[in-house]
Amino acid sequence: MPLRSDAWYAGRDRNAYIHRAWMRRGAPEDAFAGRPQIAIANTASDLTPCNSHLNEVADSVRQGVWAAGGVPLNLPVVSLGETNVRPTAMLWRNMAAMATEELLRANPVDGVVLLGGCDKTIPALLMAAASVDLPAVVLPGGPMLTGTFRGTPLGCGTDVWRLSEEVRAGTLADEDFLRSESSMIRSRGHCNTMGTASTMGLLAEALGTTLPGTAGIPAADSRLLAAAHESGRLAVELVREDRRPSLLLSAGSFHNAIVALAALGGSTNAVVHLLAIAGRLGVPLSLDDFDRVGSNVPLLVDLQPAGRFLMEDLHRAGGLHAVLGEVRDLLDPDALTVTGRPLVDHLAGTEIWDPEVIRTRGTALQPHAGIAVLRGNLAPHGAIIKPAAASGHLLAHRGRAVVFDSVEDLHARIDDPGLDVDADSVLVLRGCGPKGYPGMPEVANLPLPRKLLRAGVRDMVRVCDGRMSGTAYGTVVLHVAPEAAAGGPLAKVRTGDLVVLDVAARRIDVDVSDDELAAREPAPAMTAALAAPTRGWEQLYVRTVTGADTGADLDFLVGASGHAVARESH
Ligand code: FES
Repeated sequence: MPLRSDAWYAGRDRNAYIHRAWMRRGAPEDAFAGRPQIAIANTASDLTPCNSHLNEVADSVRQGVWAAGGVPLNLPVVSLGETNVRPTAMLWRNMAAMATEELLRANPVDGVVLLGGCDKTIPALLMAAASVDLPAVVLPGGPMLTGTFRGTPLGCGTDVWRLSEEVRAGTLADEDFLRSESSMIRSRGHCNTMGTASTMGLLAEALGTTLPGTAGIPAADSRLLAAAHESGRLAVELVREDRRPSLLLSAGSFHNAIVALAALGGSTNAVVHLLAIAGRLGVPLSLDDFDRVGSNVPLLVDLQPAGRFLMEDLHRAGGLHAVLGEVRDLLDPDALTVTGRPLVDHLAGTEIWDPEVIRTRGTALQPHAGIAVLRGNLAPHGAIIKPAAASGHLLAHRGRAVVFDSVEDLHARIDDPGLDVDADSVLVLRGCGPKGYPGMPEVANLPLPRKLLRAGVRDMVRVCDGRMSGTAYGTVVLHVAPEAAAGGPLAKVRTGDLVVLDVAARRIDVDVSDDELAAREPAPAMTAALAAPTRGWEQLYVRTVTGADTGADLDFLVGASGHAVARESH
């Protein structure tokens, strides 16, 4: 079968001459026509600290590509460091996906190894690969090793939230908080809790897009470099066998990812990312699928933020395969992987080496895990809650709304001793959806009022149209759709309204009649949000981004557009 790159390199004409000549630079004579050209889409960046080791990983991929007869090509792509990028890395996920898709399409490449790690990088790379539909294998960069502070393991991200709340509550001295800073990041790699990076790396494998057994290998573990070598080899094989994303990724693949998400107790951010990836492929996937499939799955993994352990422990205990081995009967038996074989074929003989970290079905942490999808007059298009990270006594709750129109409004008033709030209040934060912020930041786990923290309150019902860090926890109703800035009813809620949460009934409502809600004007700050950006990416984003319930992709990027390019460059 002719290679895509032959359209650049094969032949004796002027254009083929140009393409080959400029790429020679020491490459062997036979490095062009007929040799699979494998891009290494590399998100290594000093400003994405979780991915800063990926150049070394890429070197091992290169060796694997050469060994299998291909030609490796380093392709630096847009990288997003979750802790650095303002106003939120999510604003740039779709840009990273679009730029990577266009770079792959524009260049003489036949297949790609996708090197990601930090939260948005693997979703963006998978969205790009799905759209361009070139053979692709994901290589997750892996979590960092466990750091400790004063003898206690530190959960990266999760313990920042916990310790900072302790400072606000007055139970931890400021200087002790700052002392923990140098212990937080022990090694190379991404956050070591079951946050978004860990979740998306593991789900990339559950989807079938990684070399089996690769996701979750710690970044500092030499086995990651061996997996990188093998992933390079595999990419060449994928090209030779023409195993493209559109031929591998099916509704069954996403079913398996949702089962894994529930059994792992993974991040709520996976919902928007999986919806967006499926949208690029044209695979039907809805918000309700997460509840329908995930709610039947037991929670098996005891990792922070909801549990005790960290990613290094999960790998030691048997990793993703040991988890999936326990729920094998719930998986789609036909969903394929990049090996050409079904996912379930790779689960034979899996064992759990530490039953405290990975539970069996009989000792599950919760019989029904996953993401609950709520609807009601506050969220006609849906909202989600992660019951595993919530307080049981708040899952059915009725309380007075205390409304904040923006993150700035929240910060200005949340610690005001005069704020009219008690432990039964429902904190509502709006203007934080894809259009409203813009970019849908991770603010839904809004901090509790200091005076309540000092009184011993550690959780309250919170409702928001934004996202929540995968490393966070609490009784948080998030991804409310439609968002307030797009005309959702959240824009009409007033402080003092009664908000009713009933997770068992899958409801989130405000106790206001339909007539009154229809007659109310949205809060002025919500309509003002849409008028703000006037140029550049933000303007394009706000104009075209879809709701959280469909993945928050840009409306013109939904669906694949393939890898054909009609015109030559000269
Ligand atoms: Fe990069 Fe958490 S900040 S994974």
